[in-house]
Amino acid sequence: MTTPADLDRLLDGWRGRPTVAVIDLDVLRENVRLFKTLISSTTSLMAVVKADGYGHGSVPIAKAALAAGADELGVATVDEGTRLRDTGIDAPILVLGPIGANERSRALSKRLTLVVSDLGFARGVETDKQMLRLKEPVPVHLKIDTGMRRFGASPEDSVEIATFISASPHLELAAVMTHFAAADDADPAFTLDQTRRFSTVCETIRAAGVTVPQVHLANSAATIRFPDLFRDRVRVGIAMYGLQPGPDIDLPDGVKPVMTLHSRLGRVFSVQPGESVGYGRFWNAAKPTMAGLVPLGYADGYRRHGSDNFWMSVNGRRSPVLGRISMDQTVVEVDARARKGDPVIVVGDGTDGVAPTLNDLATLIDTIPYELATGLVAPRLPHLYVQQGELVAISDASGYREVNPTALG
Ligand SMILES: Cc1ncc(COP(=O)(O)O)c(C=O)c1O
Repeated sequence: MTTPADLDRLLDGWRGRPTVAVIDLDVLRENVRLFKTLISSTTSLMAVVKADGYGHGSVPIAKAALAAGADELGVATVDEGTRLRDTGIDAPILVLGPIGANERSRALSKRLTLVVSDLGFARGVETDKQMLRLKEPVPVHLKIDTGMRRFGASPEDSVEIATFISASPHLELAAVMTHFAAADDADPAFTLDQTRRFSTVCETIRAAGVTVPQVHLANSAATIRFPDLFRDRVRVGIAMYGLQPGPDIDLPDGVKPVMTLHSRLGRVFSVQPGESVGYGRFWNAAKPTMAGLVPLGYADGYRRHGSDNFWMSVNGRRSPVLGRISMDQTVVEVDARARKGDPVIVVGDGTDGVAPTLNDLATLIDTIPYELATGLVAPRLPHLYVQQGELVAISDASGYREVNPTALG
């Protein structure tokens, strides 16, 4: 495990931009292991690594998750899946989102599994499979829209599509799936409604003589809240990163945030009564105030909406943001002990009792940790990957590179 002393050593040795995201792969692995023990042995765990691993970096996260026991990966786009395949990842990869017809053959040639929700698309997969001269039938997952009203076949169309897939010598109906709209809602009624609708459609498909080998429904919130809904596979995204799927959902014991955000004071200065700080002059000093400049702004995903209530931890002290967060710089209030170069924890893991977590910041600006995490991306914000106290990979302006590839699994 990476200790605070390891982290200090690592950040002291870092010669790049002073503002970095630290991704603790030991924490990620432990989170995956905890979810594996939570689900039954007959349920497989899909690690959802879309949106560049929710901002954490899809390649190292996927490798670490698989090494810790994840069975397969979920992405949103063909590009995301291709990136994983091209780094040598061999595990099954399901493209969860809708894709363009023009991307289909590339997806098949990369052995990405596709989600089908209409007959035209299923026919297109058939044609592409023949064009590519693939020998084996192509596995597809049929997605049913049970109430999300986004992507998926209507319950009425599902039987026809399932029958078509199962009758095709070129396709294999690998699974039938749906996605919950409100699994994080305190009231489980809609989730249970969706589940009932899903079960009814699956029964109708079976009654039409089609074998449904696997079914899957659960995202993070459902995996944490509804053990009855594990079925053949759970698709865990946000909670694997140690972030809450909803404000009222506690993570399982031991699941912790994987990403923390660090910087250093670039300047310490005093602001006198009558002076203001930052664009628009929204904060004015009522008394002499010590200020510290942090080289981080909304272009790094540190959201401008937080100008009024975000804070950081400087030398263990809660340091509120002063004035507007700008594109590349933020000013915080510091105390008289603060010096240029002092370490700043912009986002912590909740253990030091001072630094905010991503969940805290999301709540403050009325958004969800999903949106914040997916905005904190490399290369602008260098990502340092640590494992057993050592730097194992870096993603920054020079690209993604593994310092110690064997350590990643
Ligand atoms: C189809 C599907 N399954 C699973 C997930 C993972 O959701 P979560 O991050 O809430 O676990 C997503 C993400 O939105 C998704 O689109």
